[in-house]
Amino acid sequence: MDIVNPAVSDYLLAHCTPADDLLRELAAETRDAFPDAAGMQVSHDEGELLTVLTRMVGARRAVEVGVFTGYSSICIARGMPGDGHLLCCDVSEQYTSLARRYWKRAGLEGRIELRIAPALDTLRALPADPVIDLAFIDADKGGYPLYYEELVTRLRPGGLLILDNVLYRGEVLDPPPAGGARAVSQLNETIVADARVESVMLPVRDGVTLARRR
Ligand SMILES: C[S@@+](CC[C@H](N)C(=O)[O-])C[C@H]1O[C@@H](n2cnc3c(N)ncnc32)[C@H](O)[C@@H]1O
Repeated sequence: MDIVNPAVSDYLLAHCTPADDLLRELAAETRDAFPDAAGMQVSHDEGELLTVLTRMVGARRAVEVGVFTGYSSICIARGMPGDGHLLCCDVSEQYTSLARRYWKRAGLEGRIELRIAPALDTLRALPADPVIDLAFIDADKGGYPLYYEELVTRLRPGGLLILDNVLYRGEVLDPPPAGGARAVSQLNETIVADARVESVMLPVRDGVTLARRR
């Protein structure tokens, strides 16, 4: 299912702050290096949304779950001040070696820390204090409910949790009994009933939830 009419999607892409040369090169190199996986990368309008939100929240401490080749992490890190810290979680050395190269080129390597391990292990090892300003979840969909719980308890009041693919190509409307769409659909119900946050789902690309810690 197209969440948004493709012509409207193209229009949205053409009417946000454009990608600079570095992001364009990263997208092109990702397509060349990983043609079968390149669709995992956030679109530029979603990346720009991440930059704007990061700036609006004034985020200095952020977490990303699901790095791939680093497009979304660059968009988040660019919205942070020079002393900001973005902790990035992924399991793939192969994908993230490209990310590391582009973080360096973007002058962001001092702001980004990468942990190669299952994200749940990395998140559970974080201090329990609610000090995270912003988190972005864009990894294995079955893990979303667990990542949500680990992160929502560590968000400071007013902190923002952003989740990608919350419409799962429309499958959440009638999810199958098991699998990623079911996990995401269950989490969508959890979030809407979660008194710890106020939330809204945006029909950006494959659906983006914003959950703000009360
Ligand atoms: C959709 S991609 C992330 C796209 C990225 N946000 C971007 O804009 O390019 C999902 C990533 O999650 C990673 N991943 C999958 N399972 C994971 C896990 N259990 N823990 C951490 N990362 C995982 C994959 O290696 C992949 O790089």
